Amino acid sequence: MGKPLEGIKIIDFTHVQAGPACTQLLAWYGADVIKVERPGSGDVTRSQLRHVEDADALYFTMLNSNKRSLTLDTKTAQGKEVLERLIRESDVLVENFGPGALDRMGFTWERIKELNPGMIVASVKGFSDGHHYQDLKVYENVAQCAGGAASTTGFWDGPPTVSGAALGDSNTGMHLAIGILTALHQRNQTGKGQKVAVSMQDSVLNLCRVKLRDQQRLDAIGYLEEYPQYPHGEFSDVVPRGGNAGGGGQPGWVLKCKGWETDPNAYIYFTIQGHAWEPICRALGKPEWIDDPEYNTARARQDKIFDIFATIENWLSDKTKYEAVDILRKFDIPCSPVLSMKEIAADKSLRESGSIVEVPHPKLGTYLTVGSPIKFSDMTVEVKPSPLLGEHTDEVLADLGYTAEQIAEMHAARAV
Ligand code: COA
Repeated sequence: MGKPLEGIKIIDFTHVQAGPACTQLLAWYGADVIKVERPGSGDVTRSQLRHVEDADALYFTMLNSNKRSLTLDTKTAQGKEVLERLIRESDVLVENFGPGALDRMGFTWERIKELNPGMIVASVKGFSDGHHYQDLKVYENVAQCAGGAASTTGFWDGPPTVSGAALGDSNTGMHLAIGILTALHQRNQTGKGQKVAVSMQDSVLNLCRVKLRDQQRLDAIGYLEEYPQYPHGEFSDVVPRGGNAGGGGQPGWVLKCKGWETDPNAYIYFTIQGHAWEPICRALGKPEWIDDPEYNTARARQDKIFDIFATIENWLSDKTKYEAVDILRKFDIPCSPVLSMKEIAADKSLRESGSIVEVPHPKLGTYLTVGSPIKFSDMTVEVKPSPLLGEHTDEVLADLGYTAEQIAEMHAARAV
């Protein structure tokens, strides 16, 4: 059986992380993704944070698998002519240039529509069109600050903190992929293409939905009972940073396990789910708490939640994080060890499911990457190496109808 997106041709004008994460996903699922790169240098991530001299950096290889690479200087007349031919033959153009770059190149939405009325043009920008910051260039952490993640992450006595997860970059790419697939579906009905735009600020905000929930509750009643500041601390008029508190109705915290003094990740996340109170008390050897009205409702526990966590930490002090989870899982308690990247890289289950895959690369050797987080019953996602710079230039030009002489001329003129 073919891949679901086979036959969809994508001009991949993306660079760094947000755009490439989107087009990589579409390439995994069968689209022909042609990465257009500047001759000589290519995507800046090819050379950023290299650990093997003269080989593409992991930053590039882990975001550009299953694609083809075409080098093209789109500021030359020949380069523009090639791009025009490509646009006529493709379904989607994806870009995450700085604001206005595609227009300055001569490829406005009007011009692209003229060349191919069915074309879907998908863009990532830092801020949405018409936003008072729409002219700004944006990277990951800028977006986390603009989207509400930084002001609500970290500890109450520390500064705003960004997450290690790429909420601004890869997350925006995932939003864009949903937008592209939606537009392709509509094009099947109407035959018309359209513009799809996702801003990094909006994508971060979309994941901070519960914090906007909290702002409105705070405005209304002046406190948030699931935050560590309640009931003993102070609230101001903005959603505070809540440390490791659970964001919903189930209080939780990161708790120390055996070895925490020397191992920075000897912790588990422990959640006190209401209906699991009885099994929690049994697991902890505290049966007297089960029916005690001072403890047996979430409300009653709220003002002593950190004392309860301290009791749990005491219970955890002679157990490793793995031993603790093995005990707690029997009591149906939602919990997990805090896993380091080293542990994740070695995790047998993640290897077996294809969530972590080994990829052979001609210059880098074998490296690990994150495979498809979406699993399909009728498709196995195969992660292939990222292309070398310009690896498919001649092949793509020949597909577009250029003769060997014309291709040689373009090379000589440094247009490709
Ligand atoms: N041939 C010729 N010129 C090319 C080219 C090619 N193949 N590919 C890119 N260029 C040119 C662009 O046309 C642009 O030229 P211009 O500014 O003279 O019009 C130029 O390269 C620079 O593009 P830009 O995207 O602005 O690069 P930058 O390095 O200055 O900025 C970002 C990088 C990421 C900050 C910026 O692209 C951005 O804000 N993107 C939107 C948000 C985003 O995706 N952020 C990154 C998330 S990982």
